[in-house]
Amino acid sequence: MSKITRLVFASHNPGKLKEIADMLQPYRVEVLSAAELNLPDVEETGKTFEENARLKAETLSRMSGLVCLADDSGLCVDCLDGRPGVYSARYAPDRDFDKGMDMLLTEIAATGDQARKAHFSCVLALADPNEGKTRIFEGRVDGHIQEKKTGSNGFGYDPIFVPEGYEKSFAELTSGEKAKISHRGRALQKFLQALA
Ligand code: IMP
Repeated sequence: MSKITRLVFASHNPGKLKEIADMLQPYRVEVLSAAELNLPDVEETGKTFEENARLKAETLSRMSGLVCLADDSGLCVDCLDGRPGVYSARYAPDRDFDKGMDMLLTEIAATGDQARKAHFSCVLALADPNEGKTRIFEGRVDGHIQEKKTGSNGFGYDPIFVPEGYEKSFAELTSGEKAKISHRGRALQKFLQALA
């Protein structure tokens, strides 16, 4: 892989942008946001995390001529047959995740499932216009959905997701603690290994 010192991160989600910029900072990779380059929010028409990540990375790389990293991620709940999955962002009405979490807690309670197992998945796609190819890196973190929201760090569904081996939600961990074990952190570790 050619040396990367600068890339566009194909997301208009400030929570994700901050996590990726923080994680790449020690590696001296400058992260530009799609918003600051006036690049559009690419519509996610794929049926899988990989299809959507590829679509976003390749579209914005073509438009900007720059190396582009895109992430598609979501929360998959076992007793809901993996939903909301690729529709995690759209599940929350008007992207109001406080309401989205309430809806999810109600749906899970209605199934009567006690284990409440769930995982976050993340697929990172790196489209490099110089190489003309897209590389894929995947990460996953298993855990369960607790009955109440706790904590105020992070974003999205963090307050209801408790990672395996912890008794705290993602929203109660520091950004550094979350990055070590999260789906995005794990996918990014694989990307960094490829960078090195
Ligand atoms: P998308 O990848 O832009 O489709 O958005 C995925 C959605 O999944 C986000 O808007 C969040 O709702 C959720 N999500 C993805 N990663 C995380 C995370 O680390 N914490 C909490 N929610 C997340």
